[in-house]
This record gives sequence, C-alpha cells and structure tokens, in this order.
Amino acid sequence: MNSIKNIPGEKGCLCLLEKYSTPEHIVRHSQKVWEVGKFLGQSMIERNYKIDLSLLRASCLLHDIGKFPCILSGAKNHDMMGKEILEKEGLPSVGEIISQHVILKGPKNRSISEEHIVFYADKRVVHDEIVSLENRFVYLLNTYGKSLGAIERLLVMKQETINVENAIFEILKLDPEIISSSIMCNPSKTESSQKQQVR
Ligand SMILES: [Fe+2]
Repeated sequence: MNSIKNIPGEKGCLCLLEKYSTPEHIVRHSQKVWEVGKFLGQSMIERNYKIDLSLLRASCLLHDIGKFPCILSGAKNHDMMGKEILEKEGLPSVGEIISQHVILKGPKNRSISEEHIVFYADKRVVHDEIVSLENRFVYLLNTYGKSLGAIERLLVMKQETINVENAIFEILKLDPEIISSSIMCNPSKTESSQKQQVR
C-alpha cells in the first residue's frame, strides 16, 4: 500500500492524468473546471472562508481521472474508479472529494467545502466551455437521459446543483453568471469585476 503523499501541483496532476491515459479533451475539460474552481475558491477565501486551494486544484484537475480506465474495463462509475486510483496513488483526501463530484455524500446542510466546489464547477463546464447550469443540464439530459430512471436521477442532480449554487453565491454575494464574464475576460479574476456584478 502507498503511503500518503503531498498533494501534487498542476504539473504533478497532469503527469497523473497522462499515467492513466486521459484523453486530451478530458484534460482540457479538467483544466477549465479548475479555472472555475479557482475563481470560487479564491473568492471564498477573500470572504474569510476556509478552503484548501491545493486540495481544490488537485481535485478539479483529477476529478475525471477514472473515465478512461472505466472505458477500458467496462466499469460504470468513473467517480468511484477515480477514488480507487487516487487511494492507490497515496492521495486519499483527493479521492474522497473526487468520489463526490457526481453525487454529494454526507448531510445536505453541511457548510460549503472543497467537494461542493468541485461538484459545482464540473456542472458549469461542457467540454472546455463555461456554460450556465441550465445549459449544462440540457447537455446532460440529451447525452445521458436515455431512460426514465436516468432522467429522474439527472433532475435530482440538477436540484442538488441549484441548492449548492445558491449556497455558494449566498456566501459570495455575487451573481452566478460572473463566472463566465470573469474567467473569459480575465483568467486571473479581479475584485473590480466582482464588484460590478454584486447581486
Ligand atoms: Fe467532469
């Protein structure tokens, strides 16, 4: 069994993605999820909220590391495959967060933490494009809503994502759409751009 390692930086995460044969388009998607996650994490830290940015960065960048191994093995749950991989790599804290990027675990009313940010940031990115929640769920329903059960699960996920969005932006006192404008205009967001869009 591997011993627990330090959380890898961006380069280390990219090496891990390569090690597990992550296709280029998933790498680009993961980098965009990290841009969204970084914006939210930094904004929360500015409001004296405790967020571990290194843990958040690794979790955003590695959240889909289980996708390609799932395709190869025929396994279904890439979130749980990702958790397994990261435990094997000595990164159980990252694995714990990744295992919640599709379905959040634990009490519904707990305070916003790294896993909520990864869960939400992933819902704001289709491929490598930032979109609204509404458009993300149109894409998810078109792509994965092939049965009544699947549609029902996606609608439950949509409601949960709306709840997380409300909780995050209640703390930030911003409009969720600031993500598109801030990141597209300026990847290293500025406080002045936030002020313009305060709710
Ligand atoms: Fe993703």
